[in-house]
Amino acid sequence: MLKLQVIKLKKILQKLKFRAIAIFLAVVFGMVFFSTKPAQTQQPVTLNLLMTAPDAEPWKQGIIKDFEAKNPGIRINIVEGPNATNLLEDLYTSAFILGDSPYDLINMDVIWTPKFAAAGWLLDLTDKITKEELAAFSPKDVEGRRYKDKLYAIPMRSDVGMLYYRKDLLKEAGFNPPESFEDLVKISQSLQQKGKVDWGYVWQGKQYEGLAAMFVEILEGFGGYWVNPETLEVGLDKPETVAAIEFLKTTIQPTKISPPGVTTYQEEETRRIFQNGNSVFLRNWPYVWPLANTESSVINGKIAIKPMVHTKNGSSGACLGGWALGISQSSKHPEAAWKAIQYFTSEEAQRKFVLEAGFVPSRRSLFLDPQIVAKYPHYPQLLKVVDQAVLRPPIAQYAQTSDILQRYLSAALTSRMTPEAAMKNAASETRQLLGR
Ligand code: GLC
Repeated sequence: MLKLQVIKLKKILQKLKFRAIAIFLAVVFGMVFFSTKPAQTQQPVTLNLLMTAPDAEPWKQGIIKDFEAKNPGIRINIVEGPNATNLLEDLYTSAFILGDSPYDLINMDVIWTPKFAAAGWLLDLTDKITKEELAAFSPKDVEGRRYKDKLYAIPMRSDVGMLYYRKDLLKEAGFNPPESFEDLVKISQSLQQKGKVDWGYVWQGKQYEGLAAMFVEILEGFGGYWVNPETLEVGLDKPETVAAIEFLKTTIQPTKISPPGVTTYQEEETRRIFQNGNSVFLRNWPYVWPLANTESSVINGKIAIKPMVHTKNGSSGACLGGWALGISQSSKHPEAAWKAIQYFTSEEAQRKFVLEAGFVPSRRSLFLDPQIVAKYPHYPQLLKVVDQAVLRPPIAQYAQTSDILQRYLSAALTSRMTPEAAMKNAASETRQLLGR
């Protein structure tokens, strides 16, 4: 067992870049420093919390200061990690495998919960919150944080993939918002030919977790599926999956509605192209809205959102993302960590966070909150999308399952393999992994 863990740890460490290891070591030293201090000097308890650097900004701007002002005995130390959920997960995983995790609060992407819970890295929070209190959160968000009927994290914010479009350009050219993939291509090409934009549609095509999240939506649009979480049946080698990949490939060639570089883009690269006015459509998360609508943005006031288009056999798929807070099994301050979770997931803190960052709340009442709706009129509509969102397979082997899909999908999108051959391999590796 120990030998296995050491081999696993070695593999993970090899995967991590130098920067990631440096962050990890800094936190370990920080933890040793802080954890020896309170005993000697009665300094406040410090809770370490790792997150991506862009996510850290809105935390630092408001809710952390408020929490610390209300709880003078507790400090929150934000550690800024790499900007990709899978790299962050590697950092957390290596910390857990090494033993005492330096992180007290675990800021978890929805897809990590089953793995972290199955490995015994998280405290069981089931008895800390009543059914009535949980009912205030979106059911899908809560579902994503359960494993074997136990609750391991409290949703801090939700997330759903959306299709952004330039309502000004569509209106001027007499187009309705697209319903089908054909509409998306037709509108894009027409506006490109008129010289209104360089590109029609930008999406996340790099080999990383964002590729899997984006693909779930296209797959749903074609009526396909990835892994059925109940039966563990794998749908990757079905014709719908191949058709979904074929569609994505045609956006690059021959329709040229997407730039060739799209297979190297994460969320931020695509947002910049759209925000600079260079694309009609963008697939992305709600965080784009306030950034694209700042005073200095050239597309301020010119955009709208809708759920992803689909074929007549498929449906609009919005991938459920989102982040929740759990407590590390090895935290020396579980009581303080729970206090922090209660505050950060409260209505007051979430309202502030949402107004500042444009993130999506996990509490249903906030989608209809007058202050929030005044700033983000599309939030009541977003609540419906969250309610119907598609979860990536909530299984303990999700990280490996997603890694297989990312690898073969990327090979197909960059024409290193045909979509059929790539998905045949992906399906058989996934079946082997899941013991099917
Ligand atoms: C967003 C989502 C998260 C997803 C990630 C992919 O952060 O909230 O669930 O895994 O994007 O890049």
